[in-house]
Amino acid sequence: MPKYKIALLPGDGIGNDVIKAAMIVIDKIKLDAEFIEAEIGWEFWKKEGNPLPDRTIRILKNTDCALFGAITSKPKDEATKELAPELREKGYVYYSPIVRLRQEFNLHTNLRPCKAYKGNPLNYRDDINLVIFRENTEGLYAGVEYHPVPDNFRKIINKHRKMRKFEKVLNSDMAISLRIFTKKGCQRILQSAFDYAREHKRKSVTLVEKPNVIRETSGMMVTEARKMKVKYPEIELIEANVDAMAMWLIKNPQKYGVLVASNMFGDIISDLAAQLIGGLGFAYSGNIGDSYALFEPTHGSAPKYSGLNKVNPIAMILASRLMLEWLGEQEKAEKVEKAVSEVLEEGKVKTYDMGGNSSTLDIAKVIAEKIHE
Ligand code: NAI
Ligand code: MG
Repeated sequence: MPKYKIALLPGDGIGNDVIKAAMIVIDKIKLDAEFIEAEIGWEFWKKEGNPLPDRTIRILKNTDCALFGAITSKPKDEATKELAPELREKGYVYYSPIVRLRQEFNLHTNLRPCKAYKGNPLNYRDDINLVIFRENTEGLYAGVEYHPVPDNFRKIINKHRKMRKFEKVLNSDMAISLRIFTKKGCQRILQSAFDYAREHKRKSVTLVEKPNVIRETSGMMVTEARKMKVKYPEIELIEANVDAMAMWLIKNPQKYGVLVASNMFGDIISDLAAQLIGGLGFAYSGNIGDSYALFEPTHGSAPKYSGLNKVNPIAMILASRLMLEWLGEQEKAEKVEKAVSEVLEEGKVKTYDMGGNSSTLDIAKVIAEKIHE
């Protein structure tokens, strides 16, 4: 029996192109794994009213982790219009399968490495090597939202002094999205960040929040971070406000090592940091839980490039590298890392985003050729 079972979720559009490319590299490192393809995405929403069919969930539950390409997703109303005619008006509501996967498998930690590889013409500077830990299941993206605001909820919050200014606003003219933090959620993401810093000999962990304004939630994160820091005397805790951090990351990105943030702030600074190291062709992440993990490039399905064998597969290949690291296959992970790094430094093959005209598969093949037994 193979050592690992890995689910492959190509999804829509270029998700298929980049998964094919990543598999060329994975084949070359001879991972002792069985790969099981599973269905996810827009096609299944249209045909079945569910972009994440139950059979896919069952496959995932029977694997160690998953590699995910990308999906197409659209706002609720547009989604409903694209349903097969026989499914319309049956109450199907579109829900992002990625968000659902994160909740269903409790993938609480989003790990996003942002490293500048020498020779990448899209780098902002060559000495960036950041790792961002974003809380992935709580905060503003927990999905607890109201519009109109229910009466009983309104009664509770109307007692708040600061609600006076909203007194005359109708329930139907008010929308509320709750920012929910739990101590456990804060501790979990902070511990992942500190453990990573210790293991990878990083000097600091920077907490990116806004406690001076969002006192209770950001405040809880700060309190927990200070407590956690005591257990890691060798690591400096830097506290930064998210708005200021956006400026610092552009001014001095080389000064930071590990960043940690709640869901929405982490989402925003990860995209900012990703652009510093080359943008969507290079940005990837791991969604990691206690017993399952899913690795993906940051980009979406880019429909206009679908099937053209044109987009940059490096983000997907590096997502596979992160999976190898998570599986404990350090040596294989390093081989992939080294191969990507050499190919970029040589600069002979480049996809269109890097100013070249090599294809998706060309890049994957050249990277695979650099990997030796
Ligand atoms: P996108 O990331 O699919 O593409 C935007 C543009 O970025 C592309 O047109 C292309 O110019 C460039 N790009 C993306 N990936 C690239 C790569 N690997 N190499 C080179 N260039 C690349 O974002 P867009 O167009 O906003 O969304 C398209 C669909 O994807 C939508 O339905 C959206 O909802 C979905 N989406 C899915 C995500 C996921 O599966 N995790 C994430 C983001 C968007
Ligand atoms: Mg994002």
